[in-house]
Formats: sequence, structure tokens, C-alpha cells
Amino acid sequence: MAVTHCICSSVSFVELKNIADEHKIKTIEELRRIKPFGLSCKLCVPYVRQMLRDGRTAFDTPIIE
Ligand code: FES
Repeated sequence: MAVTHCICSSVSFVELKNIADEHKIKTIEELRRIKPFGLSCKLCVPYVRQMLRDGRTAFDTPIIE
């Protein structure tokens, strides 16, 4: 099953990508100012960071930082 959301904040990576594209956002911190996410378990943060790098919104393999 692919990782596609911040489960704790109920926000999809697609939604986050749309916001990032619209506002030309490049960092987690900038994105959080508009749409809070990744503030609880933080497991989604490496995926969102990768999304900001390459535009992917679904991940079949774990990203461990
Ligand atoms: S999945 Fe995003 S903070 Fe838990």
C-alpha cells in the first residue's frame, strides 16, 4: 500500500503538492505555514520533503532519514 497522506493531519500529499506548486514552495516550513501537517508522529515528513524535491505524491518504498 502506497504512502499518500499525512494520516495524523488528514491531508493528502496531492493537496500539499497543489499548495506547494501554487505558492512556489520549496521547504517543509513554508508549506506548514499554509497547511499544517506533520506535527504529530512526523512519519510523513520525509515523504513530503521528497515530494517537494521530485513531485511524487505516492510512495511504494519507505523513506528513512
Ligand atoms: S503522518 Fe504526518 S504527522 Fe503523523
